[in-house]
Amino acid sequence: MKWWHAAVVGLALAGCDGGVDSGSGHPGEQTYNRYCFSCHAAGIASAPRTGDADAWAPRIAKGMDALLQSTIQGVPPGMPPYGLCSSCSEEELAAAIDYMVERSRPESP
Ligand code: HEC
Repeated sequence: MKWWHAAVVGLALAGCDGGVDSGSGHPGEQTYNRYCFSCHAAGIASAPRTGDADAWAPRIAKGMDALLQSTIQGVPPGMPPYGLCSSCSEEELAAAIDYMVERSRPESP
């Protein structure tokens, strides 16, 4: 449990318009399912696929701060700023990244 997890759950529940239910209860899951999934699940526009450890390893190696920065700023041409969630807070984006990263580590099931 990281310090921002609890805060993010509150923000996600308060700030989003509902619709996607949270299966695992990870604070980033709803944001991921709504905004990031469309590209990162299938690897659209050569996005690193969620669960693809090889694609994520060099990105994870850059560190969470770097990943958050490239999510906020976008990575032209494929990755849009804020991952298309222009209303997301940094905490929500960080949680969504964490959700993908947690599922994309080599040792994860
Ligand atoms: C329109 C498609 C699209 C959407 C939507 C999208 N991404 Fe991406 N994302 C990409 C692509 C393409 C890349 C690869 C960019 C590159 O390295 O060239 C990427 C890369 C990334 C990276 C790695 C950046 C790095 O520094 O290596 C992170 C982290 C990321 N996305 C997070 C997110 C999050 C979080 C969301 C949802 C809030 C999201 N993305 C939504 C297409 C998308």
